[in-house]
Amino acid sequence: MTPQELQRLRQIGSQFEIKGELAEAHRVKIGHINETFAVTYRNAGLTQRYIHQTINTGVFKEPVPLMQNVVKVTEHIRQRLREEGLKDLDRRALQVIACCDGQPFYVDEDGRFWRTFVFIENARTYEAVETPAQAFQASLAFGHFQSLLSDLSSRDLAITIPDFHHTRKRFLRLQKAIAEDPCNRAGLAARAIGFALAQEPLVDVLLDAHARGEIPERVTHNDTKFNNVMLDLQTGEAMCVVDLDTVMPGMVLYDFGDMVRTTTSRTAEDETYLDRVELEMELFEPLVRGYIEATRSFLTPQERSYLVVSGALITFTIGIRFLTDYLEGDHYFRVHRQDHNLDRCRKQFKLVQSIQDNSERMQQLVDKL
Ligand SMILES: Nc1ncnc2c1ncn2[C@@H]1O[C@H](COP(=O)(O)OP(=O)(O)O)[C@@H](O)[C@H]1O
Ligand SMILES: [Mg+2]
Repeated sequence: MTPQELQRLRQIGSQFEIKGELAEAHRVKIGHINETFAVTYRNAGLTQRYIHQTINTGVFKEPVPLMQNVVKVTEHIRQRLREEGLKDLDRRALQVIACCDGQPFYVDEDGRFWRTFVFIENARTYEAVETPAQAFQASLAFGHFQSLLSDLSSRDLAITIPDFHHTRKRFLRLQKAIAEDPCNRAGLAARAIGFALAQEPLVDVLLDAHARGEIPERVTHNDTKFNNVMLDLQTGEAMCVVDLDTVMPGMVLYDFGDMVRTTTSRTAEDETYLDRVELEMELFEPLVRGYIEATRSFLTPQERSYLVVSGALITFTIGIRFLTDYLEGDHYFRVHRQDHNLDRCRKQFKLVQSIQDNSERMQQLVDKL
């Protein structure tokens, strides 16, 4: 941290209800969307750590309702955990620190939105799942998160990104990008395009089930990557779910589907060696077990019946988003090499294929639990 950066953080921190003096600060490297800093304050010989974080207003156009969501959700979770008699609440639920004017955020001179959370001590996140035990903890954490919010009306929450998981709208946009082919890339992506178009029957599976009234709208996290779960440093137990910007009304299957996408294959999101990309039953088994255990109190048999297909559907949806961005000229997802978004798309599509190839075995497992 340069002295200027420290000075800037000191100025930011002074806007929040924090006692004492900023003693130390460092940038938390892992985040992609937000700028995140861990800061230590000293007050009368005691230290307390916080997180100062910006909101990416390029992605989240309405930071005020977004922060209202975060406050509602974190307070609700805290209350529910208290009722469950759990100790260590400061490590089990995010806590928003108010700004001196009472708002849950501060807007700096450059118009940037800042929020502050209590630092979750003695825990850390990992970029990717390495073991079956971690897959279990991941789904237990997100399932428990949904369960704690299952009595909060989804209508009380703002929509922070409209149509985030609306596969039909994503598919229509892909079709338009293929037809217009503004960067003349459709030829290079011909196989991926062929795969995407052949999957059209999958597109409306969850939307139709919702329209028929089989699947309710609930409060969902919508970014259920493993790097949003804080695990206890000693025990590896999931303590707390972070990154609540996309918490909004949705189907719980979006969350489970994205867990399948991000935790059942020990390969990177842009893996190019596609033979390596396979759904690992060794990871899916603990993932689905943890999820069903955590959601037993509310998950309906109908929701349960869509768990396997949700993995294929959400993986497919992210895949077509990468493909669309590739065809449109890489405006949304930052690329670090040529054809990066096409590589990301191919990885997703390979995993969709693998989920479909294994779906009978996956379903048998779900039926046993
Ligand atoms: N309250 C907290 N206490 C400790 N670490 C945190 C806290 N909130 C976030 N982090 C760390 O910062 C990282 C980035 O935060 P996150 O909210 O996930 O932002 P991004 O959108 O950038 O992923 C997390 O992966 C986690 O390691
Ligand atoms: Mg995150």
